[in-house]
Amino acid sequence: MLANKSIVLGVTGGIAAFKVAELASQLTKAGALIDVVMTRGAMEFIAPLTFQALTHRPVVTEMFRLLTETEIGHISLASRADLIVVAPATANVIAKLACGLADDMLTTTILATRAPVLIAPAMEENMLTNTVTQANIASLRERGMVFVESQFGRLASGKIGKGRMAEVDDLMVAIRKIIAQKGDLAGMKVVITAGGTHEPIDPVRFIGNRSSGKMGFALAEAARDRGAEVTLILGPTYLQPPKGVKIVNVETALDMKRAVEGVVADAHVLIMAAAVADFRVEQPAEQKIKREKLDGMDLHLVKNPDILAQVSNPGLVKVGFAAESQDLVENARAKLEKKHLQLIVANNITSPESGFGVDTNKVTLVDAAGNVTELPLMSKREVAEQVLNKVGTLRSSS
Ligand code: CTP
Repeated sequence: MLANKSIVLGVTGGIAAFKVAELASQLTKAGALIDVVMTRGAMEFIAPLTFQALTHRPVVTEMFRLLTETEIGHISLASRADLIVVAPATANVIAKLACGLADDMLTTTILATRAPVLIAPAMEENMLTNTVTQANIASLRERGMVFVESQFGRLASGKIGKGRMAEVDDLMVAIRKIIAQKGDLAGMKVVITAGGTHEPIDPVRFIGNRSSGKMGFALAEAARDRGAEVTLILGPTYLQPPKGVKIVNVETALDMKRAVEGVVADAHVLIMAAAVADFRVEQPAEQKIKREKLDGMDLHLVKNPDILAQVSNPGLVKVGFAAESQDLVENARAKLEKKHLQLIVANNITSPESGFGVDTNKVTLVDAAGNVTELPLMSKREVAEQVLNKVGTLRSSS
């Protein structure tokens, strides 16, 4: 989604400038075209050559140098930018922007642009909390600029306080979010479930399954990057969930059902990638079951509700997954009909390159109109994009 996006990266004079080298690198790797504009202060902290080497593009450090003989630099940058990011942003540059000053290439470009502007402040706590800085930030916010809040931690002075620039990962999420506003799922509410569920036997033991949550995470990231407002309902997992989506943690199938019901009323799409336990222990023991007291153990299991079959709202596109070990398409189609789905993603769990814990998947998409699309082996992220493409066509034809 960042491929070929034109991003102006304004770097001002703060020690966090070194972290922005990593940001420039990540953005370039994601395919964005990065024009770094440095203030004089920034060049005291980091050399333009660093950014030039990372972005493979010239770095702008001077106001009165034309980009080419025919282009006026700041106007050309201002109009071709999809986004301008200022990181780190000093109290000084924030004050200049709030006043509409344009005394260097960066402030002039920002004054001249219609692109969204994202600002990552970094300064000493007293400068940040000063009422004049707060008033400047409030005024820029009112004019539509987006701030990535600075964090608590060690500051340039060595003191601990608020004012550290946000981490590069958080900046990447904020950037993706702004670019995604023009994505094909912008304004859509998408609920995704991921991971397995744990059904307690006693306070320490549970019945679980091998689902890692990776497929659901890939779907959540892809939907987020295409502009959707994503709620990720997540069973227990050891993996770090994606940023920039709303996470609701659940443990059991019943918890998951309640969580889905709680958010689905105004959702446009529900994608159940979770491996929901089909059965739960009827009466989990309240205390830990002691081994010595038992020679063997029988667990009485009762059926969990079928979440996907039971939840609905008018116009909701419901997408299910079908984990099968045989008769893939037939079984998937039967589930699609039984659960009233628009789309089902069927995968063969016996194949080593698809299924639990791995980063790839080989799936077949079966839709309610009877179309069967067998996809080749691809990354879970690519599968997610294909599923969302299909969701887009199902929504526009409904
Ligand atoms: N699902 C659900 N609630 C359940 C069980 C499954 O919402 N109690 C959802 C899954 O998240 C998935 C789809 O239904 O999207 C199909 O899940 P799967 O386990 O393949 O099918 P089951 O209906 O459980 O049938 P079986 O396990 O017998 O194949």
